[in-house]
Amino acid sequence: MNNKILNITNLSKSFGAFKVTDEISIDLKFNEIHALIGPNGAGKSTLIKQIVGTVKHDMGSIILDQEDITDLNDVERAKIGISRTFQVSSIIPKFTALENIVLSLLERSQKTFQLFKSLNSNSKLFSEAKEILLQIELEDRRKVIASELSHGERRKLEVGLALAMKPKVFLFDEPMAGLDETGTKMMINLFQRIKLNSPILLIEHDMDAVFALADRVSVIVYGKIVASGTVKEIKANPIVHDVYLGYEIT
Ligand SMILES: Nc1ncnc2c1ncn2[C@@H]1O[C@H](COP(=O)(O)OP(=O)(O)OP(=O)(O)O)[C@@H](O)[C@H]1O
Ligand SMILES: [Mg+2]
Repeated sequence: MNNKILNITNLSKSFGAFKVTDEISIDLKFNEIHALIGPNGAGKSTLIKQIVGTVKHDMGSIILDQEDITDLNDVERAKIGISRTFQVSSIIPKFTALENIVLSLLERSQKTFQLFKSLNSNSKLFSEAKEILLQIELEDRRKVIASELSHGERRKLEVGLALAMKPKVFLFDEPMAGLDETGTKMMINLFQRIKLNSPILLIEHDMDAVFALADRVSVIVYGKIVASGTVKEIKANPIVHDVYLGYEIT
């Protein structure tokens, strides 16, 4: 049985003469968190954008759940199960936390909100949204408009929007950035739970979070994967120690 939900082969992208991703092959198995780490400018976000489809790759292939999605655009990819990359801009600032989640649920089901026609399905929608708000620990902030949420709360809301899309895979680009210790802990717990529904490709600079979460880690340097393995293997890998010179990997 094929235990891989996402299979990326030889993905490459150059900006002018600069090869940002260089024949990257990486995969994601069911129920796992695969962390992608590497120095600033290594090509991590570009790789995620190539998978999402917002950056066109020059070469390579992407298979999602045994379907070749290489030639699909970003909208088509989102529809069949690639979660949008993690970016604060997908939150609508004037809408409340609850309304943002409801909109994301509507986007998934591609239904329009019919205020009077189907109160039943609308109430189902709101209870589903509240369930998601509970998961991301924002239930008590559901009526607050997004622009008034704290940075950490907006990060949680972003994860909520991704959850609402029920994707086949999650691609998270630095979801812990700017979170305090409590926020990071909550996110770690949440990721451990949601990976059982949809596995996660995680870019993260917070090494403690990476080591707490990752089932596998790949290290990318100058657009190439230089090491890949379990947390234990990566911690013991001399190449990784060279890359992270100055950072104590324990
Ligand atoms: N649209 C673009 N045009 C030209 N160069 C780009 C473009 N997007 C990214 N780059 C360059 O590609 C390199 C890789 O960028 P990328 O954002 O993928 O790195 P990263 O690994 O995510 O880094 P960080 O850890 O700082 O987020 C950088 O040198 C960046 O300046
Ligand atoms: Mg980046």
